[in-house]
Amino acid sequence: IQRLTLLWSQKGVCIMEEIDKEKLPHHIAIIMDGNGRWAKKKFLNRISGHIKGVKAVREVVTACRELGIKVLTLYAFSIENWRRPAEEVNALMGLLKEYLQKECAEMVQNNIRLNAIGRVEDLPLDVQTTLRETLEKTKPCDGMILNLALSYGGRSEILHAVQGILSDLQKGKSKLEEMTVQRFHEYLWTHGIPDPDLLIRTSGEFRVSNFLLWQIAYTELYVTDTLWPDFDRKELLKAIADYQSRERRFGLTSEQLNGREE
Ligand code: FPP
Repeated sequence: IQRLTLLWSQKGVCIMEEIDKEKLPHHIAIIMDGNGRWAKKKFLNRISGHIKGVKAVREVVTACRELGIKVLTLYAFSIENWRRPAEEVNALMGLLKEYLQKECAEMVQNNIRLNAIGRVEDLPLDVQTTLRETLEKTKPCDGMILNLALSYGGRSEILHAVQGILSDLQKGKSKLEEMTVQRFHEYLWTHGIPDPDLLIRTSGEFRVSNFLLWQIAYTELYVTDTLWPDFDRKELLKAIADYQSRERRFGLTSEQLNGREE
């Protein structure tokens, strides 16, 4: 087994943590929270927190690619976020556009395919254009999926799926009795993407905030007090090490999982 040994210093103590490269989460999802608090602590405005947040996005995307994570989903903008002050919404939209423009070539070079989930039609038209271009250019990439949740809400996604199902039933394209959990997934914005194995939330809040409600049924949750702008490669490795220490039972018993019982 290929093992990656990591060393880091925490509170002056040297901790050694091992990441098993054979047992990496296939899909990591992140609720990037705490940009505002990070800025407040430093007597800066909220937008400065988001700017530092984009730097953290870059570092985490690179770290995931280098580790061999196959899907990274980032909660970049929720449907509820539209209710924030216009100045902050505009700044976030600007940062998103700038990120896509700046990172597109590097994504292609690093074989990263961009995907977007959410009501992307709500985004300003110029952001939609940049997004479409980036999606198109990175389409042939198959090393990793960077999945951005934009104007996303879990309940809206489920509702959208139900509407799709009803419409197909009406058109005679599918039958009610043929509907299964697997087929339901095909109507979600995440169709074709396996459910997250690990959901990370920064800044200490124990909430799922309308994120991937259907998909996180069996996802391991990891909450850290670290604020998103301070989240880096080391923090990501800590989260993965914690994930690897858990036993995922999917409703079975430990004995069944370890092959001691039918
Ligand atoms: C939460 O912090 C963060 C957001 C609402 C936006 C996340 C966006 C980015 C990191 C930048 C843009 C993203 C990409 C992919 C380029 P908060 O403002 O809710 O923090 P608070 O709870 O401390 O106020």
